[in-house]
Amino acid sequence: MNNKNYVLVGLQWGDEGKGKIVDMLSRDFDVVARYQGGANAGHTIIINGKKTVLHLIPSGIFTDNIICIIGNGTVIDPEALISEIELLEKDGLALTGRLFISKDAHIILPYHKIIDAINESKNDKIGTTKKGIGPAYFDKYARRGIKFSDFDNIRILKEKIAKNLKYLTEIFPDSEELKSLNPESLYNDLSGQYAKIDMYFAQTQYLINELIAEGRNVLLEGAQGALLDVDFGTYPYITSSNPTSGGACTGTGIPPTKINGVIGIVKAYTTRVGEGPFPTELFDDNGKKIAEIGAEFGATTGRPRRCGWLDLVALKYAVTINGVTELAMTKSDVLDSFEEIKVCTHYELNGEVIDTFPSNPFTLDYVNPVYKSFKGWMTDLKGNKEYSSLNQNFRSYVDFIEKYVNVPVKYISTGPDRADIIIK
Ligand code: IMP
Repeated sequence: MNNKNYVLVGLQWGDEGKGKIVDMLSRDFDVVARYQGGANAGHTIIINGKKTVLHLIPSGIFTDNIICIIGNGTVIDPEALISEIELLEKDGLALTGRLFISKDAHIILPYHKIIDAINESKNDKIGTTKKGIGPAYFDKYARRGIKFSDFDNIRILKEKIAKNLKYLTEIFPDSEELKSLNPESLYNDLSGQYAKIDMYFAQTQYLINELIAEGRNVLLEGAQGALLDVDFGTYPYITSSNPTSGGACTGTGIPPTKINGVIGIVKAYTTRVGEGPFPTELFDDNGKKIAEIGAEFGATTGRPRRCGWLDLVALKYAVTINGVTELAMTKSDVLDSFEEIKVCTHYELNGEVIDTFPSNPFTLDYVNPVYKSFKGWMTDLKGNKEYSSLNQNFRSYVDFIEKYVNVPVKYISTGPDRADIIIK
């Protein structure tokens, strides 16, 4: 059986434009599965000028007949999921038989969002999306998390909710919001929500393997980005899951032996939302110009994104740990009107030149990026259909990146619409 199962990962700090690429690639796949994160993600898809932002449901849902899976590695806020389902249904999409959600995914309860906000109000703030993501994973790894499969035993589910609430009010004794919650209404609200979505639940680890055995091709859609990975990112300024390609296995039940390739998504420059180190961040007019032209505001929170030049040290690191086999470069058109464009090729650290990405975020805070300068292409990329018709200065930029990371750039996005894409 010749399956084609690919993982798609963001190679920076998220917001690389993965939604658009997943939407485009969906035509070649039968199944699209999310493997980590939750409603902290925001995947924007623009079809015929109409913009939709998805937070939980895979972007593949816009392609007819695609099966979408939300895997066990995700954390799900039922309220957010229901709103998204209703939004898609209003658009005329029928989800029954197309959407499957893992019974092993953990549930984000109201207390997780309260704790996220409490943590963020402290001095050591991370700049989270306040969607309860970190606290839900915290409970998961502390072995007291609540999964959708807990609905198989209501008595134990009720006990778990009561026990968790008691524990959390003990460790956050000053929170009036936590104190105002009670286990009965938490359960009642949750079971009301569950009743609206219970038809979507399955043991998706079986489903995904059965689909593969039938010869169906699976695209595993990562959320956030490699540099926000809990293990490999700029810890502690990270999200609490594994967006890197390895997370696709633990987050869905697809075995490593069934993965055939990894598509890495990289913006033509770099952005980040939230706190944490960002060596190539620009504080000058170039940074402002990128933010303005690129409309760099968070799809989930609306926060302005920090902007900077492309960091090849970070990109090569991300390519290495993800095993990227092909690249998609997004938002290339945002740089259309820059006379000079820079990429970071090395860092200077304590008088030494290095080309590896330091693990310690505080070290990263004081590395000096060493740049290579490129002549801007000063022309619109949008509208071109062939790589060969693109401006030579742009192609030199792409060539350099490919050589540096030793992976081909296969897709180039030249505008926000579904149609603005070149396959090289
Ligand atoms: P959390 O995932 O809400 O816990 O936030 C942790 C960090 O990840 C913060 O810096 C967020 O801004 C960042 N983050 C989470 N989701 C996204 C995303 O989809 N794009 C970009 N950054 C994200």
